[in-house]
Parts: sequence; structure tokens; C-alpha cells
Amino acid sequence: TSIRLIGVPTDIGAGARGASMGPEALRVAGLAAVLEAQGLSVTDLGNLAGPPNPWQPPHDGYRHIDEVRAWNLGLHQAVLAELRAGHLPLVLGGDHSLGLGSISAVATHCRERHKKLRVLWLDAHADFNTAALTPSGNLHGMPVALLCGLGPPELTGIGGHVPAVQPAQIRQIGIRSVDAGEKRLVHEHGLEVFDMRYIDEMGMRHTMEQALAGVDADTHLHVSFDVDFLDPEVAPGVGTTVRGGPTYREAQLCMEMIADTGRLASLDVMELNPALDVRNRTAEVAVDLIESLFGKSTLMRKQPPTRAP
Ligand code: ARG
Ligand code: MN
Ligand code: MN
Ligand code: MN
Repeated sequence: TSIRLIGVPTDIGAGARGASMGPEALRVAGLAAVLEAQGLSVTDLGNLAGPPNPWQPPHDGYRHIDEVRAWNLGLHQAVLAELRAGHLPLVLGGDHSLGLGSISAVATHCRERHKKLRVLWLDAHADFNTAALTPSGNLHGMPVALLCGLGPPELTGIGGHVPAVQPAQIRQIGIRSVDAGEKRLVHEHGLEVFDMRYIDEMGMRHTMEQALAGVDADTHLHVSFDVDFLDPEVAPGVGTTVRGGPTYREAQLCMEMIADTGRLASLDVMELNPALDVRNRTAEVAVDLIESLFGKSTLMRKQPPTRAP
């Protein structure tokens, strides 16, 4: 397989401007070269085009719904085309509302190929809001709900199949900021959430064992990596920082354990905001972590270290 970089330069669903510069910052941090150095084949397809950000207040609970739909339709088609051609799409966001277009395409592909889908949602936020619950109207706070069929048909229907995914296919990791109404909805829909309390108590290793349980040779593993998953001390370049996230080491282990499954088949890197970054540090950290996600390890390991009894 070859990795196909798809830049999606928009901040259309975010509450701060600047994630539109994310794709270029990841390129400047050397993403393609780092993966090629691992012996992987990488093709940069450049950036998708879409409407500009009109920076309007919410309308019926949503900001920029038409523009969010337009960007996501384009991304859906681009990701689906790469998957059908046998490639591994790596989406360079862009804000997290784009998870809708990307993951709906992955879900369509899995239905076509009769593959099981597992989505790992690495994020400080559950992104499970609806128009009635959102404190902001920002659609980057809603993609998981939209994928699960909650929301207006012009967004939930982007992949032609509603819901695009089932809550049971999703595992959320690193969560530490969920709005009050959103919390109830997450519970109601039975989303499996490994929040920071869980990671603190159980450790990243056990967390990832649980999140990856059941992933097998028939599984398409999709990672939706919101860079605000990371502790803001490590990753300041995001629009919605939340204290108390995974450390650099914990995040590395998370990525390494995903790589060990050998099942990673698509990836989104979202919410990187160079306007808020410090000398592209956050992009560089993201590239380090992506390197591990694609199997970089310090030593040649035949198998992961065995667990202490
Ligand atoms: N829960 C907040 C909202 O809905 C923040 C969402 C942040 N989402 C993100 N992808 N950074 O407005
Ligand atoms: Mn987030
Ligand atoms: Mn365990
Ligand atoms: Mn997010």
C-alpha cells in the first residue's frame, strides 16, 4: 500500500481561525520525508479546494453548515477514491468537522469490502454535540454525533448511508472535556470512552489493550487524531486546549500499540493550528507520533514486551 496525503486547508467548523494552515505546517515539519525514511511509499496529492470561511454566527444551532457540507462532500469523494484504489489516505486537517467526510468514506469502503470497522477517536473532546446541545455552534464539536446519525440530513447523509457508523465501532481515548448535555447523549448512545480518569488509573497500556480488543485480520482500523488529544504543554498549537492530556511518552505508547496491530488503514490528523503554535513545535510532535503510528520503533521488536504478572 502507499500512503496518500490529502490536505484539507479549512477551519470552517472551528471556533478559532488557523487550522486551515495545518496541512502546510505538517509538510514543513517533514511528514512525507519521515515516512519515506521508514521505507514507506508516500504521494502528496496536494490540497482539496472548498469555500472560504465566512466567519458568521450560528444559524439554527450551526455555524457554516453549507460550507461544512461542501468541504466534507469533497473530502468524502477523495478518501473513498484512494481507498478503492488500495491506498492508505492520510488526511491533513483542517478542523475536526472533516472527520465526517473522511470517516463516512471509510465506512462506505468497509461496507463494500465486508470489513469490520474500528474507529479510534483520540481527542480531548467527545465531539458528540447536536444543534440543541452545542455551546458554540461549531461543527468541529459534532462529527461523532453526525456519523452516528444525529443531526440534519444534509450532514448525516453525506456518505449516502445513515447512520454512517455505529457507536459500537468507536473507541474514544483521552477525553477530558464534554459539555453537560453532550455527556448525557454520550451515555445514552453507549459510546465507549476511555477518559483521562481511566488512563490515569489503568495506564495507557491497559487502555490501548482494551481499545484495540477484537481488532483482527478483517478489521479496518481508522485513527482520528485530534492534536488537542495531547497535553497542551506538548502541543500548544490547537484552538481548544484542555489541560491534563497524555504526555509525550503516553502518546508514543498509544501510537506504537496501534502500529503493532498492523491494521491501520486510514488516518486523520486534525485541528493543528499553526497560528497558535510556537515555531511549528506542535506539527513536529505530531510528525514524531505519526512516525510511531506507522511502525517506527527504537529496536527491532519481534513482539511487544510481555506484561508483568
Ligand atoms: N465541546 C466544544 C464545542 O462543541 C468544543 C469542541 C472542540 N472540538 C474539537 N474538535 N476541537 O464547541
Ligand atoms: Mn478536540
Ligand atoms: Mn490489561
Ligand atoms: Mn475533535
